[in-house]
Amino acid sequence: MSNTQTEAKLDENKLNTFIGQMLSDLGGASSVALVRIGDALGLYRTLKSKGAMTTEELAKAANVNPRYLREWLSNQAASNYLAYDPATAKFSLPPEQAMVFADETSPVYMMGGFDLMAALLENQSKVQAAFKSGGGVAWGEQAGCMFCAVARFFRPGYHNHLVSQWLPALEGVQAKLERGAKVADIGCGHGWSTVLMAKAFPKSQFTGFDFHPDSIRDARAHADRHGVTANARFEVGLAKDYPGQGFDLVTCFDCLHDMGDPKGAAAHIRQSLKPDGTWMIVEPMAGDALQDNLNPVGRLFYAASTMICVPTSLSQEVGTALGAQAGEARLREVITSGGFKTVRRATETPFNMILEARP
Ligand SMILES: C[S@@+](CC[C@H](N)C(=O)[O-])C[C@H]1O[C@@H](n2cnc3c(N)ncnc32)[C@H](O)[C@@H]1O
Repeated sequence: MSNTQTEAKLDENKLNTFIGQMLSDLGGASSVALVRIGDALGLYRTLKSKGAMTTEELAKAANVNPRYLREWLSNQAASNYLAYDPATAKFSLPPEQAMVFADETSPVYMMGGFDLMAALLENQSKVQAAFKSGGGVAWGEQAGCMFCAVARFFRPGYHNHLVSQWLPALEGVQAKLERGAKVADIGCGHGWSTVLMAKAFPKSQFTGFDFHPDSIRDARAHADRHGVTANARFEVGLAKDYPGQGFDLVTCFDCLHDMGDPKGAAAHIRQSLKPDGTWMIVEPMAGDALQDNLNPVGRLFYAASTMICVPTSLSQEVGTALGAQAGEARLREVITSGGFKTVRRATETPFNMILEARP
C-alpha cells in the first residue's frame, strides 16, 4: 500500500479522538508516581484534615520542600485530583476525591490501585522474558510490594461488602457463623478477609491458608494488630492439600484464577467441607466472552492478569492460567469438576462476582 493510499484512508476526527484518549492515558500513567508520593508524604490526608491551603501553608503543615510541592500541586490540579482557586491561590481536596485518595474506609478508596500499577511496571522484565519462554513468574518472585499492593487494592471491597452483603447472601451461612462455625480462607494473602470475618463472628474459628510464607507472616501481624488472634490463625498451605476437615465454610477471595491447578483445589475443598458446607468464591467481575469485558474494568483486570495472575498460575503445577477475566461459565466448569453439585451467583459488585458452591 502506498503512502498516498494510507493518507487517503485516514479519518482526522478519529485520529484526534484517539490522540485525546492517548493524552488522557499517558496523563493517568504519569500520575502513578505523583499520587503515591502524595500518599506516602501524607499530602492528601493533610489537605483533607486542614482544608484549602496555599503551597507554602501545605509545605509547612506536611514538612516538605515548597518548590517540589508547587510542581506536584500544579500537576494534581491539572489532573482534576485537587481543586485550585486562582483568587486565593489555594488548593483543596474535594470530598469526592477525598473518598478515592484519603479515606481508607471508603468503598472507592483506590490508592491500592496506584500501588498495583507501580508493581505491574516493576514486573515488566520478568513477565516480558516469560512471554518468550512460556514459563511462569512465581508469586514470591514478583515486584517487591506487589503483595501489599494487591491486599490494599482489594481491602476496600471486603471492608464494605464482605460482612454486610456477601456473607448474608449465602444460604444459611451467617446463622452458622453467629452460632460458631469452622472456616478456612484459602489463598488468604495478607489476611484482610480473614481478619474482617474473625472480628465480625467471634464464636467462629478461622484459618487462613496461603502458599506464600511472607504473606502468612504479614497476615499474622494483621491479626495481632486487630486483636483477633483468639479465633484467627494463619498457616502456610496449598489450596490442593491444606490440612483439616469438617469445615462449614471455605472461602477463596480473588485467588482461584491465580492457582496452577484450580480443579485440584476444587476437589480438595469439596472433601474438606462438611456435607452441608459452603464454598464461597469471590472472583473479579467478568463476562464470559472477550467482547463483554472490553470496558474500563476489564481493561484493568486484563492488565493485572497479564502481569500477575497468568504468570503466577503458569509457575505452578498444571498451569491452568484461567486469567482474571475467566467469567462465570469457565469458573463453573472448574468448580463442578471438584464434585460440587450446585453453583449460584449469590451477589455481585461492579468489581466482583460472589459465587456460592454446595456439595
Ligand atoms: C490476588 S491474591 C489475593 C489474596 C487475598 N485473598 C486477597 O484477596 O487480598 C492471590 C493469592 O493466592 C495465593 N495463591 C496462589 N496460588 C495458590 C495456591 N496454589 N495455593 C495457595 N495459595 C495460592 C497467592 O499467594 C496470593 O496470596
